[in-house]
Amino acid sequence: MDHRGRFVIWSRYRCYFFIVFLALTLIIYNTDLVERTEDLVPKWWMRFGQVVSTVVPVITTYSNSTATVIQNATLQQGIELSVTNINTTMENSTVTEALTVPNLLPAKQSVPIEPYISPGSFHVEYPHEYHFIVDEPKECQEKNPFLVLMVPVAPHNRMARDAVRSTWGTESLILGKVVSLFFLLGLPSGEGAEKLQEQVLQESREHRDLLQSDFTDSYKNLTIKTMMMLEWLSFRCPNASYAMKIDSDMFLNVNSLVHMLLTAPQHDYMTGLVAKWAHVLRDPNSKWYLPENVFPDNFYPSYALGLGYVMSLNLPRKLVEASRHVKAIYIEDVYLGLCMKHLGIQPTDPPSQNLFQLFPVPYNRCSYSQIIATTTYTITDQVNFWKDLHKPGPTC
Ligand SMILES: *[C@@H]1O[C@H](CO)[C@@H](O)[C@H](O)[C@H]1NC(C)=O
Ligand SMILES: *[C@@H]1O[C@H](CO)[C@@H](O)[C@H](O)[C@H]1NC(C)=O
Ligand SMILES: *[C@@H]1O[C@H](CO)[C@@H](O)[C@H](O)[C@H]1NC(C)=O
Ligand SMILES: *[C@@H]1O[C@H](CO)[C@@H](O)[C@H](O)[C@H]1NC(C)=O
Repeated sequence: MDHRGRFVIWSRYRCYFFIVFLALTLIIYNTDLVERTEDLVPKWWMRFGQVVSTVVPVITTYSNSTATVIQNATLQQGIELSVTNINTTMENSTVTEALTVPNLLPAKQSVPIEPYISPGSFHVEYPHEYHFIVDEPKECQEKNPFLVLMVPVAPHNRMARDAVRSTWGTESLILGKVVSLFFLLGLPSGEGAEKLQEQVLQESREHRDLLQSDFTDSYKNLTIKTMMMLEWLSFRCPNASYAMKIDSDMFLNVNSLVHMLLTAPQHDYMTGLVAKWAHVLRDPNSKWYLPENVFPDNFYPSYALGLGYVMSLNLPRKLVEASRHVKAIYIEDVYLGLCMKHLGIQPTDPPSQNLFQLFPVPYNRCSYSQIIATTTYTITDQVNFWKDLHKPGPTC
């Protein structure tokens, strides 16, 4: 192809891109930016509206070298984590019990009471001693998984959990490796919270795949959810090799993921879609706004996008330790990037650029058999794509 041909194709791409960009801008402006839980809005690609989405056919070649994966990553013992072994079969536990907070110190007449200073709306209540009120303490010990999939989801979103349970959540033995799956929940709040909590406890008895900690489940509390995930992993699954945090509306190809991990580094390893030199969003209307007094730098350190990132199991403990020295912000993936920077560890690009996809990839069996994770427009898409891909027959 001569240069002129390439130029024409490029300008057509730019034209497409411009239209997509305009559409995204309109969508963002017209979206009511109400506080909602993570699995409803916003879509991931909105954060990167400026990224060109070129849909490139996926061509991945894996090396055939046999993997030597140390199953039992050794972990130093001793860190005191706030995971408590609370019996999940407690039928009587209620939200209110879990939230009981000791009363304020008895006021002494002689000591003047300090005026209350609000920590501000960007304050994230972490570190803090949260507790798991729904736990699966034995799962990792008994099954000894190679990979643990962690899916944050709002308590009310049973539909998303059932979609995962009927698709990639069923893949528990891949290439001879055990894969475990857990959903991460906070506490429901607002109207109907008590009833919802009862349903959550019932669902946990049915499926034994829920982990629920006693912070209020909300978008602004996602950093707390991620940190509780890391506390739980380092405490409950220290012998697993890898963990992946993945959103419930993502398509996941567990086979490709395990395949990649068989030859991946075993320590200090984090991969996914790695954002570099990402701008801090200063528009107060942005879903990801951070004012300068909360985060003075104009760029974030490299971080793996929260839609799906993978880490070696020696990292959760290190990240929890780092969090004691790095002030929490509510954007959970950026916060992990800050903790990684504190540790002096860089997130790594995946072996092929096509493995993780920010923009929904149009479905075809061949490309979906080779990617690891992609966003989808709807949960129905996710379910249908997974089911089609797992029909017998050639993929490419
Ligand atoms: C959990 O509670 C049930 C009944 O409430 C009891 O039978 C079981 O032994 C308890 N398990 C643990 C680990 O405490
Ligand atoms: C739970 O409730 C039942 C009856 O409602 C009662 O018999 C039982 O002792 C309670 N268990 C705990 C641990 O409070
Ligand atoms: C991890 O492995 C060690 C040594 O094999 C074992 O003693 C320990 O019980 C395991 N821990 C968990 C939580 O599986
Ligand atoms: C986050 O959780 C904490 C602990 O439950 C709670 O005090 C706080 O109000 C929650 N924040 C939001 C924005 O929901």
